[in-house]
Amino acid sequence: MTVTSAERSAMLRARELGAAVLGTTSPNPAVGAVVLAADGSVAGEGATQPPGGPHAEVQALAAAGERARGGTAVVTLEPCAHTGRTGPCADALIAAGVARVVVAVPEPTELAVGGADRLRAAGIEVELGVEQDEAELGALGPWLTGVREQRPQVIWKVAATLDGRVAAADGSSRWITGEQTRAAVHRLRATCDAVVVGSGTAVTDDPQLTVRDADGRNAGRQPLRVVVDRRGRVPETARVLDDAAPTLVSRAAGPAELLAELYERDVRRVLLEGGPTLAAAFLRAGLVDEVAVHLAPKLLGAGPSLVGDLGITAIADALQFETVEILPSGGDVQLRLRPTRHTGGRQSVREGS
Ligand SMILES: NC(=O)c1ccc[n+]([C@@H]2O[C@H](COP(=O)([O-])OP(=O)(O)OC[C@H]3O[C@@H](n4cnc5c(N)ncnc54)[C@H](OP(=O)(O)O)[C@@H]3O)[C@@H](O)[C@H]2O)c1
Repeated sequence: MTVTSAERSAMLRARELGAAVLGTTSPNPAVGAVVLAADGSVAGEGATQPPGGPHAEVQALAAAGERARGGTAVVTLEPCAHTGRTGPCADALIAAGVARVVVAVPEPTELAVGGADRLRAAGIEVELGVEQDEAELGALGPWLTGVREQRPQVIWKVAATLDGRVAAADGSSRWITGEQTRAAVHRLRATCDAVVVGSGTAVTDDPQLTVRDADGRNAGRQPLRVVVDRRGRVPETARVLDDAAPTLVSRAAGPAELLAELYERDVRRVLLEGGPTLAAAFLRAGLVDEVAVHLAPKLLGAGPSLVGDLGITAIADALQFETVEILPSGGDVQLRLRPTRHTGGRQSVREGS
């Protein structure tokens, strides 16, 4: 596979463009595209628009205009060959006269597959699988989880002290982390289609669960707020039930059922915001794809711990994670982790919940 350095830079940019529209495209994938002119310079950029709007390639081609002719389209997902709410992207690339298409992730669905073949049949050079892992672990992750597992991607976010406490013994939990870290949580929420808490958190903390700006005002598109409340414990006056954003009060018996319910509503990326009991249920069911741990340089010595009982009694059975990113955040530290699914033991077992 020969890929030029200009194409690699364009692929990095395409991933960024896709990441920038996360949370606005579901149930469609958050794709990024860059069109390079024949001389290798950037001629146009695009990203998936909300459902019904243009796909990334079409946007990038429109921005490039005539400069696309003889150029290269660099896209995070194989251009589609089917007519859905919009026409096939493969045909748009052919019509624009590009000479080459560089793709990260081959199309995994029966419905839209065939784009690369159609492009090749039109005499266009196609490279598939360029930096595929990076694209899969990035903005395409939620959509791919949906295609492969018919459920949304789940990111469990938790703020804890150094000794892993998520609240003090008296129940107070605001604010464990500092301003900068809390702002990061709002940005993370904005990339998700739904934010989920258990009834315990809704009752104890009474969070609003909206996306807010630095001044505390609700800002931009709001994800669906979800409270899992099997016994109807959450009072009507709870802030999560206000009219600042849509809310679903779910009686789903377990995480798998809840995720199925959300998937049906076109949710592809879920931020699980706790608390420890619900988080434990998701972990036991093997339904956490990524963890965002925000650690504050504080000690409490008592209070609820980060996660509830996982049914683990031996160190050999410990849930194992790999560290994807460590980010200093004001005085705090943000950790991004992924479960290591290939280890033996409980992790590979879907226990139900
Ligand atoms: N620092 C942080 O990041 C953070 C985040 C969240 C919470 N917290 C703290 O956590 C504490 C609350 O903890 P918590 O464990 O009670 O909260 P939780 O996990 O939000 O709620 C637990 C409740 O969720 C319900 N639930 C619904 N579906 C469930 C399922 N499949 N499995 C298990 N439970 C399910 C259960 O009640 P029903 O059976 O009645 O439905 C359960 O009692 C508070 O002190 C809060 O401050 C901290």
